[in-house]
Amino acid sequence: MSDLLWQKTGVQTDARIMRFLAGDDVLLDREFLLFDIEASKAHVEGLVRIGLLADAEGSKLLRELDALARDFSAGEFVLDERFEDGHSAIEARLSDQLGALGGKVHTGRSRNDQVLVATRLWLKTKLGELAETCNAVAAVCLDRAEAESLPMPGYTHLQRAVVSSTAMWFAGFAEAFIDNAWRARQTLNLIDANPLGTAAGYGVNLKLDRDFTTQRLGFARMQVSPIYAQLSRGKFELAALEALASAALDLRRLAWDLSLFTTSEYGFVKLPGIYTTGSSIMPNKRNPDVIELIRASYASVAAARTEIEQLLSLPSGYQRDLQLSKGAIVHGFHHGLGALALLPDLLSGIEWNADAMRAAIESSMYATDVAIEAARAGVPFREAYRHAADSAQHAAEGRTPESSLGARISPGAAADPQFEQLRQRLSDL
Ligand code: ARG
Repeated sequence: MSDLLWQKTGVQTDARIMRFLAGDDVLLDREFLLFDIEASKAHVEGLVRIGLLADAEGSKLLRELDALARDFSAGEFVLDERFEDGHSAIEARLSDQLGALGGKVHTGRSRNDQVLVATRLWLKTKLGELAETCNAVAAVCLDRAEAESLPMPGYTHLQRAVVSSTAMWFAGFAEAFIDNAWRARQTLNLIDANPLGTAAGYGVNLKLDRDFTTQRLGFARMQVSPIYAQLSRGKFELAALEALASAALDLRRLAWDLSLFTTSEYGFVKLPGIYTTGSSIMPNKRNPDVIELIRASYASVAAARTEIEQLLSLPSGYQRDLQLSKGAIVHGFHHGLGALALLPDLLSGIEWNADAMRAAIESSMYATDVAIEAARAGVPFREAYRHAADSAQHAAEGRTPESSLGARISPGAAADPQFEQLRQRLSDL
């Protein structure tokens, strides 16, 4: 391993203990290294601005940081067990190439604000991707809701309830994903604060140019209190995972619908072949594995959220426990975003089986229409309800799924879907 940043004379280390301390850190830090380098560059520029580094020193450090980013991206610099973590790797590389100057990069910063700023930049990127993906899902759903409306059964308790439509189904998920996109953006705004320059969590005796690094790194604001900067580690990760979980939860219900709708028993939906796989033993099978794995992605997101929540049982100030929050966000976002990213194409590609859906609409499903019509004509609803229950078969005569949907004029329902409101919110995003 490269020299430990914190190595002092007379301090003993033990290989087994060091391995335990590092855990998967050096591997996980591959996710964050480019952000760490970006923030290191801002830090160097900030040090030049306050005269702690000469212009020439700053230029050398910046050039070497760029070179490291290039080598890392090209696979020529590998972040591995030679280093304690990504932060150490950056300093080791600078010292390797620039000698004593490399050791100046850490002036006025701690790995505590270094990891905070790198993970925060990473989280901002992921929340941006989340918002974009939710947007794309909502757009596909709204397009399909506007393009076509086929009658289908509407269920409550998984029992046939009232006539619904594919347009209503799609509109429901369109609105859900507009909310999810909005929530991702809100969360992005919440966490859009620069922790760099808070050092170990108590500030430093240097007039660091934190306004500069804030603007240079594209943060909306400076995270003012060094104590809060540390308190926000894990808390902001949790907020990001909650935004992700909100989308993943709708995703799970959508996947559930599709896995039911594609069974022979329902037969409402045909999935494009690319979303199904075969069985190794049953030659007759095509299985909707993709939908099932999409459904399962929620488990990874929820697990990540739980892990961080459990980690946060801590007093204020940096605690090493927080290191484990990195694995949680990496895995949670990997699974959650991976599943969501498949959704726009999948939803564009599903085909409805109009006949099967129509065949599943039975006459009892008009009973609510019948009762409400009588109530509209002045019969007390409870009386109309009982009458409709008794005469469901008879009352359904002459009714069609289209007539039921055509009369569904309550705002948002089939005859008045108000798609323009959803369009407006989607474009506001
Ligand atoms: N790997 C550490 C983490 O993720 C980096 C910060 C280490 N700071 C410290 N004081 N030991 O939290």
